[in-house]
Amino acid sequence: MMKKNSRVAQVLGIEYPVISAAMSWVTDARMVAAVSNAGGLGMLGANAGQTELTSSPEETADRMRNEIRKVRTMTDKPIGAQLMMVGSGGPFVEPLVKVYEEEDVNVILCLNDVPQEYVDRFHAAGKKVIHKDIFATVESFKKAEAMGYDAVIVAGVDCGGHSNVKCIGTFTAIRIAKEATSLPVIAAGGIIDGVSVQAAGILGAEGIYVGSRFCASVESPIAQNTKEKIVELNTDDLVQVEGIFGPIMSYPTPDILKCKELMEDSQAKNAGAITGTYSGGYRTGMLLGGWTEGVGLLDIGASVGQIKNILTVQEIMDEFAKGME
Ligand SMILES: Cc1cc2nc3c(=O)[nH]c(=O)nc-3n(C[C@H](O)[C@H](O)[C@H](O)COP(=O)(O)O)c2cc1C
Repeated sequence: MMKKNSRVAQVLGIEYPVISAAMSWVTDARMVAAVSNAGGLGMLGANAGQTELTSSPEETADRMRNEIRKVRTMTDKPIGAQLMMVGSGGPFVEPLVKVYEEEDVNVILCLNDVPQEYVDRFHAAGKKVIHKDIFATVESFKKAEAMGYDAVIVAGVDCGGHSNVKCIGTFTAIRIAKEATSLPVIAAGGIIDGVSVQAAGILGAEGIYVGSRFCASVESPIAQNTKEKIVELNTDDLVQVEGIFGPIMSYPTPDILKCKELMEDSQAKNAGAITGTYSGGYRTGMLLGGWTEGVGLLDIGASVGQIKNILTVQEIMDEFAKGME
């Protein structure tokens, strides 16, 4: 069993070691506050609470600042937000780091190779810092420990969103992380109920990081038709395609099938079109529900066949609690 009062719960100052995933376009203040109010840690992802695109780094940072303040009108419990590194991170990183330093957000999830400087700055600002690496290598866990992170997330290929390139399943991924580091390990990928929490706990995980199950929650910001489709889908209905950072699973909309074709033809030659489909696809497909017209992505984890109803965040948290002691 997973301990309710595990090191993850203690370090993050939460009642249950449950973190809702920082899903691009698929989080907002309401959902994040609901998770934190239910005793977990709600995590704001990229474009949290937004419906419109922007390419301005300043606007992106301002939007995140506003969303954090909005969550703060709904909860005084710990909340988190994500810093994502794509390549060098470009001009988006520094304005966002400043927002996180200045605002009342307690935990920063650093995705991929975030430089030591930022980890130190978050710690100096009194935040806890969690590491997640899409590539999930032994080396990355060792490095995270040396850099002073407070915990690591390990995601198996079962997860929604981009999963690890070597397609390592959640069971094995947890064991790899446990062996590589003495930091608390938070498991992700296919965790949707009490039984899966229990299984992750038996393998040594001290917390869970959950995306797909929270997509089909009452409080999730995605379109109602997307939630209803998630409940209806089976794993067989999904296709696995090469994403920008690793494989993803999606309902096969024409957009995603076209992307698969372009990827197979030449990823390098079609980089612009491919990135456009993926990065905008969460917004057009899931958030706005455009997948019915064949637009965008409907990206969800392999556990989709076991997600059979739309529940409130509190009901989902109650179910997870059944797998803890
Ligand atoms: C729609 C969707 C979007 C996601 N976007 C991101 C993202 O932008 N950054 C990130 O680190 N992970 C993202 N993820 C992955 C999750 O963070 C997490 O690893 C995964 O959802 C856990 O597995 P599960 O979906 O089986 O619960 C996304 C997942 C989903 C389902």
